[in-house]
Amino acid sequence: MRDQSFRGHVQNLEQQGELVRVDTETDPHENVSAIGWKTYDQFGKSTLFTNLKGYPGWQLASQVVTDRRKWAIGLGVSEEDVIPTVVDRIKSPRQPVSIDAKDAPVKEVILTGEDADLTKLPAMWTSEEDPGPYIASGMAVIKDPETGTRNMSYHRQQILGPDRSGFLICPRHALRTYQKYQERKESMPVAMVVGVHPAILYAGGFTTRYGIDELSLAGGLLEDPVRLVKCETSDLEVPADAEMVIEGEILPDAMTEEGPFGEVTGGYAEEGSTEIFVVKAITHRKNPIFYGMHSGAPMTDPQSITGTCVEAALYEHLSKVEGGLDLLDIRCLGVSGLMAVVVKLRPRIAGQAKTALLAALSSPYLHPKLAIAIDEDMDASDLKQVFWSLTTRVHAEQDVTKIDNTRIWSLDNASDIVPGMSPMYRIGTKVAIDATKPWSSRIEDKTRFDRAMPTNYDSVDIEDFLP
Ligand SMILES: Cc1cc2nc3c(=O)[nH]c(=O)nc-3n(C[C@H](O)[C@H](O)[C@H](O)COP(=O)(O)O)c2cc1C
Repeated sequence: MRDQSFRGHVQNLEQQGELVRVDTETDPHENVSAIGWKTYDQFGKSTLFTNLKGYPGWQLASQVVTDRRKWAIGLGVSEEDVIPTVVDRIKSPRQPVSIDAKDAPVKEVILTGEDADLTKLPAMWTSEEDPGPYIASGMAVIKDPETGTRNMSYHRQQILGPDRSGFLICPRHALRTYQKYQERKESMPVAMVVGVHPAILYAGGFTTRYGIDELSLAGGLLEDPVRLVKCETSDLEVPADAEMVIEGEILPDAMTEEGPFGEVTGGYAEEGSTEIFVVKAITHRKNPIFYGMHSGAPMTDPQSITGTCVEAALYEHLSKVEGGLDLLDIRCLGVSGLMAVVVKLRPRIAGQAKTALLAALSSPYLHPKLAIAIDEDMDASDLKQVFWSLTTRVHAEQDVTKIDNTRIWSLDNASDIVPGMSPMYRIGTKVAIDATKPWSSRIEDKTRFDRAMPTNYDSVDIEDFLP
C-alpha cells in the first residue's frame, strides 16, 4: 500500500527541493503566517517550522499543495498529468478499509477531558484583522443521521476556548446533514481531521452529489483504500495515518460571533455568526506535524485546493459539451481569488468557444464569474499570454457576453447580497470573453502570437553579447 501520510508528503517535498526548514524559534501567533506566506511568494517553497515557541513537541508545515508541482509530487505524476489523472481516478472510487486502533498512528497519543485542549495546539493567527488563531485545515467527517452516508469537508474553526470553537458551515452538504440533526434536536458528531495525504486533502475540497463519500474518492486518487480507524467518542471513522483528529460535536441550537477572517479572495469574510463545536477528545501522532493553513492574499493552499478541484470538475464538465470539445487546459486563477477561469481549447466551429464558456460559468462550482477562452497556441498558465489574447483577439461587441442575475459565489463582495438573506447568498453578473482567434481570420492566421518577433530571433544568442 502507498504511504497515506501528511509527513510522507512533507518528506517528499523536502527531498525534491520544494520545502524550506525553519529551525529558528518562531511563534504561530506572531510570525509563522508571514514567514510561510513570504517563503512561498518569494521562493515558491513550502515551509516546515521545527521550533515553535510555546508548543514543544510540535512542528508545523504550510503551503504544501500550493501549485501543480506540489500536487504532482503528492499524486506521483507529472505536472501536466495532474488534472487528467484526478479526473480519471475519481471515476473509480475505492471503499476505505477499517483497521485496529493499535495499528493507527493517529492513536499514538489520546487526550480526553481537560487534556483535550484547543489552546495547546499551534494554530496560526493567519491574517492581520482575524480576531485570533484559527484552525483552518480541519476537514469534518460527519454522517447523515438517516442514511449513514459519510461526508467530508473543510470547516474553519476560530478557537474560542480550550474546549470550543466556532465552526463555519456554508450552504452545502454539511449544512444539509447538520439541519437533519437540528430537526431531531440532536448534536451532530464531528471528527476534524488535520494533516493528511494530498489525495485526502483534495477530496475534502471536492464537490459532487450529496451522499458520495469523499473518503472513497480519496481512495480512488490514492489507488488504494484509505485506512480508517474508529473515533474514541463516536462511531465515526477517520484516516488512521492523519497527524491529528479533534473529536467533538456541533450543538443543535447555539451560535457564536465569528470573524472577520482573511479569505481566498484576498479580502475578508465579514464578521458573522457560526455554529459551535464542542471538543470531546484529541488524538494525534507522536511528534505531530500541525498543518498550518494560510488563507487570505493569494497564493495559499486554500486557493490551490479549491482551484484544482474547480479545474478537474470543469475539465470533466466541459469535455461533455457538444458531445466533446477539443479541450487543452483549464486554469482557475488563484490570483483572481478563484473567480476567473481560463479555458484553452481548439474550437472546431464558430461559436464553440462561447458555448464552452457558458458551461464553465454554470458548473459544480459557483466560484468563477469570469471565464476566458484562449486558443491552442497560448499558454493558459501565463497571464502575459492570456492578456495578449484579451486585447489582440477580442472584439468586445462580438466576444464579450454578460449574463445578469445569476447566482454568485458567497465571497464575491462586489456582487449584491440577495435581499433579506445572509452574505452567503449573492446575485450578480457573469462574464464570458472569447479570446480565441477571430473565426474570420483563422485561415490567414493574422493573429499568431509570434507573428512579429524580433529580426533573426532564432539565430541571435544573447549570451554572445551580454557580459
Ligand atoms: C482550506 C479550505 C477551507 C475551507 N473552509 C470552509 C469553511 O470554513 N466552511 C465551509 O462551509 N466550507 C469551507 N470550504 C469549502 C468546502 O470544504 C468545500 O466546498 C467542500 O467541497 C464542500 O463539501 P461538500 O461538497 O461535501 O459540501 C473550505 C475549503 C478549503 C479548501
